[in-house]
Amino acid sequence: MTLKAAAISVRENAHAPYSGFRVGAAVRGASGAVYAGCNVENVAYPEGTCAEAGAIAAMVAAGETTLTEVYVVADSPTPVSPCGGCRQKLAEFGGGGVRVTMGTTGGAQQVMTLAELLPGAFNGDHMGVK
Ligand code: THU
Repeated sequence: MTLKAAAISVRENAHAPYSGFRVGAAVRGASGAVYAGCNVENVAYPEGTCAEAGAIAAMVAAGETTLTEVYVVADSPTPVSPCGGCRQKLAEFGGGGVRVTMGTTGGAQQVMTLAELLPGAFNGDHMGVK
């Protein structure tokens, strides 16, 4: 399954009764495998999690810690942009050159790199760790 198809498909399972905004995300691991996640909201609102976090968790649970490509999709007027927290989460596992495709269910797409989405990212270098 393509990254785009995986993101569109998993979005159907989003649990978003509070915002009504369903998001699907898919990441490709270094092995080539595709991992998908959707947003999972909670009645205690801050406990909700983003689609990107779900996809990353699935990748790590499968034993992979490097992502090479990202796709995010929602029913938004313009291509959905990962939130600031998710940009940092993606940067934990992907280099600045990783392409992030942001899409709408209507078919619009915008591609940016992780470095463009999170310039000057805080990373292990700042802490003297790898
Ligand atoms: N959301 C995501 O899952 N990913 C994004 O990139 C943007 C926002 C979710 C969080 C929340 O469940 C809903 O969209 C509205 O903010």
